[in-house]
Amino acid sequence: MKICCLGAGYVGGPTMAMIAYQCPDITVTVADINETRINAWNSDDLPVFEPGLDEVVKVARGRNLFFTTDKMKAIKEADIVFVSVGTPTKTYGAGAGKAADLKYIELCARDIAEVSEGPKIIVEKSTLPVRTAQGLKTVLEANSRPGIEFQVLSNPEFLAEGTAVEDLRNPDRVLIGGDEDSEAGREAIATLVSVYAKWIQPERIITTNLWSSELSKLVANAFLAQRISSINSISALCERTEANVDQVAFAIGKDSRIGPKFLKASVGFGGSCFQKDILNLVYLCGHFGLPEVADYWEQVIIMNDWQKSRFSQKIVSTLFNTVNGKRIAMFGFAFKKDTNDTRETAAMYVGRDLLDEQAVLAIHDPKVSTQQIFKDLKESETDAEGKPNSQIEICPDPYVAAKGAHGLAVMTEWDSFKDLDFKRIYDGMLKPAFVFDGRNILDHAKLREIGFEVYAIGKK
Ligand code: NAD
Ligand code: UGA
Repeated sequence: MKICCLGAGYVGGPTMAMIAYQCPDITVTVADINETRINAWNSDDLPVFEPGLDEVVKVARGRNLFFTTDKMKAIKEADIVFVSVGTPTKTYGAGAGKAADLKYIELCARDIAEVSEGPKIIVEKSTLPVRTAQGLKTVLEANSRPGIEFQVLSNPEFLAEGTAVEDLRNPDRVLIGGDEDSEAGREAIATLVSVYAKWIQPERIITTNLWSSELSKLVANAFLAQRISSINSISALCERTEANVDQVAFAIGKDSRIGPKFLKASVGFGGSCFQKDILNLVYLCGHFGLPEVADYWEQVIIMNDWQKSRFSQKIVSTLFNTVNGKRIAMFGFAFKKDTNDTRETAAMYVGRDLLDEQAVLAIHDPKVSTQQIFKDLKESETDAEGKPNSQIEICPDPYVAAKGAHGLAVMTEWDSFKDLDFKRIYDGMLKPAFVFDGRNILDHAKLREIGFEVYAIGKK
C-alpha cells in the first residue's frame, strides 16, 4: 500500500512519521510545496520540535518514509491521499474573521483529480467545517478522468503539540468518518481502519458518518477551549474574593464528572487551532441559522481575549501605571511548553500591548527563534540604519533577560523556569522586583521570601 500526505506541517509530518514507523510495509510520502520545510524534514534539524520525534523519523526516513516537493508524483502513486494542509481563518470576503479558508484544500482536490489514473481514498486530516467532504467530492468528480472513483473519508487529528508523538503512539481514539451507506464507502473505512489497527486497539478506533466526524473535531476543540475560558473566568473572581483558582480547579476536578484535565488557569490559551476552530464553529452556527448557539461559543473567545489583555493591564497598573522605558523580562514565547510553535501565543498579544506602552522587552524562550519572535511582534530586528531594535532584546540566557528588569512575566510553562536561581534573578532586578506568573508554575511563597512582589493568575 502507498500513502501520500499533502502538507508536511505540525500535523502532516509527525502523523505520517508515526504511520511509517508503525507500518514498515506501507510506503509513506509526505509532499509539501514549501521546499525549505521539506529540506528540513530531510535533515537532522526537523522543522517541528516535538519530544521523541527525531527518533521516530530516524527509524522510518529512507526506509518507508519520504519527504518531497513533487506532490503530483506522490499523489499519482498513492492508494490513499491524506490532505493535511492549513485551514486558517479567512481574512477576506464573506465570512472574514470567522469562516475557515478552504483554498488550500480545494487546490489539493484539483491536483488529486488532475493526476489520478485510478481509484483513491482521499482522507481529510485537516480540521474542516462540517460538510466540506461534499464540496471535495464535487471538485474531485468534476475534474477527474471518467470512471475514476474517489472515496472521501474524514480522519481528524487530535494530537496536541508538545505531546504529539505520545498522542499518536497511544491516542484516546482515532476517528474515521465515511459514507457508511455504500459498500464502497464501508470498504474505504475498513482500509483506513486496517492502517491504524497495526498499533491501536480496535475499541479505540471509532467509525461514524462523514458529518459526525468532521463536526466532532470542531466540537472537541471547542469543549477543551471552553474549559480553559471557564476556569480563567473564575480566576478573575478568585482575585476579588481571596479564593485560590488552583485550589478551586483541584476541588472541582476531583468530581469524576468534571475531571482534572484542562482546568489550569493561565494568561489565555494560544495555538493555531482553538481560536480558529471555535470561530469556524461560530460561523457555521450562524450559517445554519442558529445565532444563539453562535453567541454561546463566541463567548469562549471573548473571555480568552479578555484574559490576555487583563494580564497586560495588570503589569502596567502594578508597575505604577507606566512601563515606558522599563525593561520587562518575558520568560517563554511559545504558546505552550515543549513546542517551538508560537501561533496565537498569548505572549505575542501581551508583548504587543507592552510595546504599545513603550516598554522594553527582554525575551527568553528555550526553543523559539529570534526571527519568529520579531515576526510575531510585527517588529524588525534592526532600524533603517542597521542599529538593533531598542525596544526588544532576545536573550538566550534567562538571567541576562531579567538583569535590570522592573518586572518578570512568565508566559510559557517551560519546566526549566522552575529550576532557575530566583535569588540571583532578584539580585539583578530593580526594586521593587515584580513577578507576574501567567502560568502559575513558580513557588510563590518562596519568591515572596526572597523579596519579590508576586502577581499570580487567580490568586490574591
Ligand atoms: P501547517 O501550516 O504547519 O502545515 C500545513 C502545510 O501545508 C504547510 O507546510 C504548507 O506549505 C502545506 N501546503 C499548503 N498547500 C499545499 C499543497 N497544495 N500541497 C502540499 N502542501 C501544501 O499546519 P498544521 O498545524 O500542520 O495544520 C494542518 C491542519 O491540521 C489544519 O487544518 C489544522 O487545523 C489541523 N490540526 C492541527 C493541529 C496542530 O497541533 N497543529 C492538530 C490537529 C489538527
Ligand atoms: C489542541 C488540542 O488539545 C488537540 O487535541 C487538538 O488536536 C489541537 O488543539 C488542534 O486541533 O490543533 P494544542 O493547541 O496543540 O492542542 O495544545 P493544548 O495542550 O490543547 O493547549 C492549547 C492552549 O491552551 C495552550 O496555550 C495551553 O497553554 C493552554 N491551556 C491548556 C491552558 O491554558 N490551560 C489548560 O488547562 C490547558
